[in-house]
Amino acid sequence: MKHTFLAGILSVLVVGFTAGSMADEQKKPTGWLLEAETDEKRFELVQKYLRGFDQPMWEVGERYQSMHTALIRNNPELATYHWEKIRTTIENGIMKRPKRGKNAKAIFLETAWPDVLSDLKSGDLAKAKQGFNKAKAACMACHAAEQVGYMNNQPVFDLSFK
Ligand code: HEC
Repeated sequence: MKHTFLAGILSVLVVGFTAGSMADEQKKPTGWLLEAETDEKRFELVQKYLRGFDQPMWEVGERYQSMHTALIRNNPELATYHWEKIRTTIENGIMKRPKRGKNAKAIFLETAWPDVLSDLKSGDLAKAKQGFNKAKAACMACHAAEQVGYMNNQPVFDLSFK
């Protein structure tokens, strides 16, 4: 009896407290960006959130894998689509990290990229698949040049065509 009474009082207190703090939450301005004091601070937060070269590379890795799958499925148009998005993603990565630009251009964007594009668009599936192998070599060469050669030892770089 005594316990039930105490439990009753406690639950009233808990409910009251929770409702009170929820009302306070709702009065607050919404969210991490709008709460920042100035626009400069907001841009700083956005810039930090959008990260550096790692985050676009993550997307590039996903699209590269999808390229491989597309070619297995006899869909060079889809592989071409991903190849074009990979270019955009790397260019956007350079916008964030300009020091990566020199090797990216020399090893990839201005050399391997157009070459692989023409293989993908050749209308010859065997040639498109060889294009994928060229892409792989260029990706791996840039990792070595950028001192992140350990990136090459992961399953996505086991993919290739005979
Ligand atoms: C500028 C040369 C350069 C090119 C070209 C390049 N990469 Fe990278 N890649 C990097 C660097 C540098 C990192 C490490 C990023 C970091 O440490 O912030 C990286 C990291 C990665 C990662 C790990 C990302 C993560 O955080 O999980 C993957 C996957 C990857 N690259 C795939 C590729 C593929 C696939 C290609 C080719 C289509 C490619 N990269 C082309 C420089 C390059």
